[in-house]
Amino acid sequence: MTPELKRRRVVDDDTTPTNVPNQLERIQNDDDDEQFDDKRLSVYRILKYCLLNILIITIIVFLFFPIIFRSSFTVQQLLIFMNYVNFGLTEPVQVGLHCTRNLKVSSDESIQLGVWHIPPDESKCTLNDDQLNQIDNLFNDERMVILYVHGIGGTRSTSHRVDLYKVLSNQMHFHVITFDYRGFADSTHIWPTSDGMTNDTNAVYRWLRINHGIPSERIVVWGHSLGTAVTVRFLSSVTENIPKAAILEAPFTTIQDATIVFPITRLFKFLPWYEWCFFESLAQNPKTRFNSTALLDRVRTPLLILHAKDDGIIPFNQGKQLHQIAEQIQPTDIVRARFVSFEWDKGYGHKYIAKDPDLPSVVTNFIESVRQ
Ligand SMILES: *[C@@H]1O[C@H](CO)[C@@H](O)[C@H](O)[C@H]1NC(C)=O
Ligand SMILES: *[C@@H]1O[C@H](CO)[C@@H](O)[C@H](O)[C@H]1NC(C)=O
Repeated sequence: MTPELKRRRVVDDDTTPTNVPNQLERIQNDDDDEQFDDKRLSVYRILKYCLLNILIITIIVFLFFPIIFRSSFTVQQLLIFMNYVNFGLTEPVQVGLHCTRNLKVSSDESIQLGVWHIPPDESKCTLNDDQLNQIDNLFNDERMVILYVHGIGGTRSTSHRVDLYKVLSNQMHFHVITFDYRGFADSTHIWPTSDGMTNDTNAVYRWLRINHGIPSERIVVWGHSLGTAVTVRFLSSVTENIPKAAILEAPFTTIQDATIVFPITRLFKFLPWYEWCFFESLAQNPKTRFNSTALLDRVRTPLLILHAKDDGIIPFNQGKQLHQIAEQIQPTDIVRARFVSFEWDKGYGHKYIAKDPDLPSVVTNFIESVRQ
């Protein structure tokens, strides 16, 4: 027998009935192989699907989003003001504020702003609304009035803001006036802009001075984060009856600089088109124009700058830089800008300087120093 024939025989033998179990086994084996192939195929499909998705997301995030950001001033406004990010305006009592009045103040034509007035020592106040309404002038004491200008997102009832009002009212015995800009909380719903927000701040300031007869020497403006840029814009536009002092908590130099250091933007910094998409376009957007460094030479109000070293939103250096510029360019006949930093280990970050036990004395001393 040739080897060829022998092999055939063997093969033929295999097909004899006695070998049925063997054959079944082989079929089984073939099935396993197929299953294995199927598995490999589906793993491959899943992998392909994932990679495709990652690719699409990457293109959207790193290409489309920057281009949309560049080409739309509205998208820039949306991301810079975040006025739609809020968990609702709560009643003052719900956040533990006593004797707090909820008011409306008119700003530009047909714009109404929601405002709270928190009196000094609110925690000890037991008057009800009727009793409060019977007092004709709640500002009829000599206490300082803080006009609080808040940052992006949220409302005047956001908790870290309320924490500060309580310190100002109970520990420093000041009045607090806090408001929501247009487009925020219960204020008239139109798009906020840097101009509009400045006008709103001015409207509340005028309301204090003119409607309530509070002299400007009794008013201190307190801006936080984006509110510091609004405050500087506002202060640079006031030529008479200027506020006594201003506190800039966690400020930045320009909106572009703030955007560069903003945590989310860091994700894009490596892109070759980063500057073109984010930096240049913001410089051209008149609706989000905030350049505090360009305005300080017109600010005659003495400034106290507060910044925590562990601020993860607006880095500490921004506050320091702003202070240096203020020292250089603010008019020389006014009290010099002061800078107070808060150490890393305190953990105040961007929003919790109000927790500092020394804050009342730091602020009161500064205001006293301006009084002379
Ligand atoms: C802000 O006020 C100025 C001066 O009254 C006015 O010309 C301007 O239109 C106002 N801006 C906005 C956005 O309402
Ligand atoms: C801000 O203003 C300063 C002074 O006018 C100017 O030199 C600087 O380029 C401005 N910055 C931006 C980012 O617009």
